[in-house]
Amino acid sequence: MTAGPIAAEQPATFAFTPENLEKADALIAKYPAGRGQSAVMGLLDLAQRQHDNWIPMAAIDVIGEKLGMAPIRVLEVATFYSMYNLAPVGAYYLQACRTTPCWLRGSDSVIKAIKDRLGIANKGMSADGKFSLLEVECLGACANAPILQVNDDFYEDLDYDKTVSLLDALARDEVPTPGSMAGRTGAMPAPGATSLTETAGQETSAAGED
Ligand code: FES
Repeated sequence: MTAGPIAAEQPATFAFTPENLEKADALIAKYPAGRGQSAVMGLLDLAQRQHDNWIPMAAIDVIGEKLGMAPIRVLEVATFYSMYNLAPVGAYYLQACRTTPCWLRGSDSVIKAIKDRLGIANKGMSADGKFSLLEVECLGACANAPILQVNDDFYEDLDYDKTVSLLDALARDEVPTPGSMAGRTGAMPAPGATSLTETAGQETSAAGED
């Protein structure tokens, strides 16, 4: 896990919108009575999505009050997981995986392409506020490594040139279809299926012809 920085400049207040208050209540209601604090991660996510993809300290206080938790307990959760941002991030928030499978498959090239194309380092933001970068640990999609997460989407099977092309498209506010950048379907082996090469449908039809 990699906690990002905490913003030096903070809004004085935060309040959930009526719609998000309803969602927060629905999340809390999923847990047994007296166990509503288990919804803390969901409420942090709601606050982040409402507040331009980062969580101000005022929202930590509001969530603590809502769940009957000391704000420091809420902050402990928010600082533990890299998916929560406690300072402003770029409109395109890049999370580059650098854990072993991605590293073996070229994550260094992905990170170098980001640094070369955007001139930003880990935890940095481009001057126009359009991109920011956080190097993170395993994103759980190792089969199609290396992985770059852009906001909520995964871009997979990247190399230096594919990463530059992706960043060029995003700079034009063109968002490519997420998934494998090498044309892989799902997490199939790169050279194509190597086992279970016959589908159930084919087997049934072959049996029906006998
Ligand atoms: S190591 Fe990068 S997604 Fe798992």
